[in-house]
Amino acid sequence: MSRLIIISNRVSAPKESHSGAQGGLAVALQAAIREFGGIWFGWSGETVDHFTGHIHFQRAQGVTTATLDLEEQDIEEYYNGYANRTLWPLFHYRIDLAEYERGFAGGYKRVNERFADTLRPLVEKDDVLWVQDYHMFPLGQELRDRGCKNRIGFFLHIPWPPSRLLATLPEAEALVETMFAYDLVGFHTKEWLDSFRHYATHELGAEEEGDALTFKGRTLRLIVAPIGIDTKEFVEGANGPKARLALRNMRDSAVGRDMIVGVDRLDYSKGLEERFHGYERFLSEHPEERKEVFMLQIAPPSRGAVESYQKIRTKLEGLSGQINGAYADVDWVPIRYVNRGYPRDVLAGIYRAARIGLVTPLRDGMNLVAKEYVAAQDPEDPGVLILSRFAGAAAQLKEAVLVNPFSADEVSDAIMQALRMDLGERKRRWRAMMDNIEQEDVVWWRKLFTDALMGTDGSTPIPADN
Ligand code: ADP
Ligand code: F6P
Repeated sequence: MSRLIIISNRVSAPKESHSGAQGGLAVALQAAIREFGGIWFGWSGETVDHFTGHIHFQRAQGVTTATLDLEEQDIEEYYNGYANRTLWPLFHYRIDLAEYERGFAGGYKRVNERFADTLRPLVEKDDVLWVQDYHMFPLGQELRDRGCKNRIGFFLHIPWPPSRLLATLPEAEALVETMFAYDLVGFHTKEWLDSFRHYATHELGAEEEGDALTFKGRTLRLIVAPIGIDTKEFVEGANGPKARLALRNMRDSAVGRDMIVGVDRLDYSKGLEERFHGYERFLSEHPEERKEVFMLQIAPPSRGAVESYQKIRTKLEGLSGQINGAYADVDWVPIRYVNRGYPRDVLAGIYRAARIGLVTPLRDGMNLVAKEYVAAQDPEDPGVLILSRFAGAAAQLKEAVLVNPFSADEVSDAIMQALRMDLGERKRRWRAMMDNIEQEDVVWWRKLFTDALMGTDGSTPIPADN
């Protein structure tokens, strides 16, 4: 069997339990690589004065990790810069926040070259490579430039923006052209795939045939593969002692009130400001409900070196304070706003204690919190998921109460609808969503992609050196 080399910016060695703010990608890949074996390659999370290319190898629970230290300037230009000030806002449709700086683009290229230089000698003839996410778009091309003829796949965990937005990126054409170094490119939804295909065919001039695109003699295949959670592990955790304790504590502290929960990295794409406004609309329009509910918003800080993240943090502190100031009473606070991470089992207990899971990103590649919320529910008395239409997860979780997160009225109405929903309807909706979450879990996702990459899904095999 071929080895699988997974490459991503963040590498996270397996641990007994997760704590702190772990992104969906890290959590999902841990489960995937444990299942498959192989190497997980990327940034160590550390910085050094001078880049050496020294690789730290580590082996734990069947997973080998190989990581590199980067320079401070690399992190500034590649991670804080091009990845999170340029690509992240643009790919989440926020060109108002996107910063286009040659220095960022140069640092991004330099770091991808450094990854390629260091990774290339590790790659053996039959290895299959799988590159993850927007930090690494050009890595495939850099590897090809260094003579790598292996199969290389790429998966994007964030949305792909419409062509007219992407066209604002000075390097858009070059970036899309480098994607043709890959044999297979995966997206969470057809919508993101169609946007990529639109740019490749309309702006670049690629030829389209079925699920394949050809440009300058290179052919890549496109695939929709929505990522799932490790459902079995999550359900077990949700029924375990730590989750039960967290559930009990939450229920005690709720004193009979219905809890609405939100759990998100503190990111402007998650629609937290709009969510608070929607909840405030609910409170103002339904005074009789005020002391019957409260919202718990858990939002661990993220990407704190980037100004737009500092701003959204300040904004939310002000807004939660304002809403609490306007509506709180001696025996009730409408919003509990918490900025820390929790172990996953504890999170599962908190999800289960919530009558409503409020997941309202303005734009999101997938959103695993939505799936975790559903998986954590008590089948006999499940809560209601309110989900943004603009999250990738909405393409699968059609039985959620789907909302436009930009509309405070819609969010307010959805909260009311969820509170009034009878047990029969809650169970029916939950079952339909849970069927999907059980079937299309993280192992299913990994298999769908790697089978397609290795040509074992019945489609035409991709020659290793095409
Ligand atoms: P993103 O990848 O953009 O952060 P996702 O919703 O896909 O968004 O994934 C977020 C992951 O981070 C989920 O697995 C969620 O459980 C985890 N997470 C988010 N907030 C916390 C927190 N406060 N404590 C622990 N885990 C968290
Ligand atoms: O899911 C998108 C993503 O950017 C992942 O690539 C990443 O691991 C996660 O969100 C958290 O972001 P960061 O690695 O910047 O903390």
